[in-house]
Amino acid sequence: MSAPSSFPNPDSNDLDRLHAAVKREKSDQEPGHEPAPVWVIFLFMIVAIIAGGQLGPMTGGFSFNVSNPFSTGKLGGGDPRPGQNDGGAEADPFQVAMKKGASGYAVCGGCHQGSGLGLAGQYPPLADSEWVTGGTERLIRVVQHGLVGQVTVKGQNYNFPGGMQGFGAAMSAGDLANVLTYIRNTWGNEGTMITKEMVEKVRADEKRATQWTQAELEPFKDKNVPGDIPAGPGATAAAAPAAAPAP
Ligand code: HEC
Repeated sequence: MSAPSSFPNPDSNDLDRLHAAVKREKSDQEPGHEPAPVWVIFLFMIVAIIAGGQLGPMTGGFSFNVSNPFSTGKLGGGDPRPGQNDGGAEADPFQVAMKKGASGYAVCGGCHQGSGLGLAGQYPPLADSEWVTGGTERLIRVVQHGLVGQVTVKGQNYNFPGGMQGFGAAMSAGDLANVLTYIRNTWGNEGTMITKEMVEKVRADEKRATQWTQAELEPFKDKNVPGDIPAGPGATAAAAPAAAPAP
């Protein structure tokens, strides 16, 4: 672009620089539309943080237990944040045992299979087995110290070489109780919950180092280890009062 010759300063470079400087300049703010000073913005942020901290405790104690629209069933209610219900007072002990027992069953599933059907001629089934759904005392003793020799399950004979080793030494009373509760209530089985206390009771009076035989266990076939059944089928413990809503 060439400057007109009448321009007082015909130096085109100077003209460009002059225009560039004008373009860099911000347009004037209209009155009432100026940006707020930085200190005002910071002050607002500090006030908002302090006010937010005050608001929580002063609104009657907001609580997920009270405000959760889905708080109906025993497990469905309560604090929806993950990890808040595990073993909590309002969790149903039967459901908790079933969940833990399902993972504990991995120890047994290699032989008795995930289906609980066992393997024909080798591992007897747990599904619909009278050993599993019958008296709790025989079941606890079998898994505690193992079983050897010929056994009859659902009218079929099994005699696996070496039998089944006991799990008493490898598993805690609580883990064992959860697995037994699980196998008593899976694959269509239904049975009372087996508690840690029941397993401990059997452990306390069972002093042996060898596997059981079917004949030895015959007297315990229909016996149940005494003790409270906190929840699930045949629960004996008085129904826990509904958890009081958090204040
Ligand atoms: C290494 C394979 C193996 C594992 C692992 C195993 N079992 Fe067994 N289980 C057997 C065999 C074999 C028998 C039959 C024993 C016999 O023939 O004398 C048996 C028998 C049983 C019986 C009695 C018969 C029946 O089918 O109802 C129960 C109950 C039982 N097992 C439960 C369990 C539980 C619970 C676990 C896991 C904690 C488990 N078993 C792990 C092999 C196994």
